[in-house]
Amino acid sequence: MKTLRKIIFPTAGMGTRFLPATKATPKEMLTIVDRPLIQYGVEEALAAKMDQIIMITGRGKRAIEDHFDISAELEANLKQAGKSELYKEVSRVARMAEVIYVRQKEALGLGHAVLRADHWINDEPFAVSLADELIVGAKPAMQQLREVYEQTGHSVLGLMQVPEDQVSKYGIVDYVAEDNGLLRLTDMVEKPSLKDAPSHLAIVGRYVFTPRLMELLRDVKPGKGNEIQLTDAIALLAKEEPVYGVLLDGERFDAGNPAGFLVANAVLGMNHHLYGEEFKQILKAHLD
Ligand code: G1P
Repeated sequence: MKTLRKIIFPTAGMGTRFLPATKATPKEMLTIVDRPLIQYGVEEALAAKMDQIIMITGRGKRAIEDHFDISAELEANLKQAGKSELYKEVSRVARMAEVIYVRQKEALGLGHAVLRADHWINDEPFAVSLADELIVGAKPAMQQLREVYEQTGHSVLGLMQVPEDQVSKYGIVDYVAEDNGLLRLTDMVEKPSLKDAPSHLAIVGRYVFTPRLMELLRDVKPGKGNEIQLTDAIALLAKEEPVYGVLLDGERFDAGNPAGFLVANAVLGMNHHLYGEEFKQILKAHLD
């Protein structure tokens, strides 16, 4: 089995739901407590030993590149000012990963975004992570996927149960439970109506694929919303070879919509090692 090292982050989306905040700032750079959303995704990937990062960007996304780059001037200033904790953190972020940036010139769908990385995959397994699904828990979500990949050698999707009124917002899977406790996925439908949904198990933005997925993606035609859907390529893959689902442990925040984003800030804020206690007190005073 080939080692899993590569991970693709599609980050070219417009962030329309966050306008005007995202007029000049990528939505991936919006802050959850003390760091931008995309940094959570990258740290999760690194914790799962996926350290070859391919970021799919687009116009107006340069701030992401700057965030993971070295700012010699800033580092020198922080050092000189004796701000050693900040210096350590800023230099850690700048050196945490080697990132390749690939442009998605047109917004033709998630499948189209992933296919932009085709050239860099070189017949290796790869992960895909959607950073606006923020998943926190004792074991990083990507590590949970890695373990199933290493156990089976096949593709794996991260799943979570969603309420009925949410199924039309996600890719929803059909499956059979195997004796080994894994879910073997037999089909998946992008954003079905409730009556067409095969289950209430949603794909929550964490994927590991065999290289075959990329080949299938090359021929996928526009589907739901006239976009090239990653889900359609996975459904084809599941007809050729096993694709597994893992029910993820952890708490998920849909940070891609403003309400979920605010909840993520509130919950992670309350748990923050530096600001948590003060934040809780101030919040309580507001709620009383
Ligand atoms: C994408 C995928 C969908 C998945 C979702 C998770 O949809 O197409 O299958 O369930 O991410 O957030 P999007 O939210 O980008 O429209």
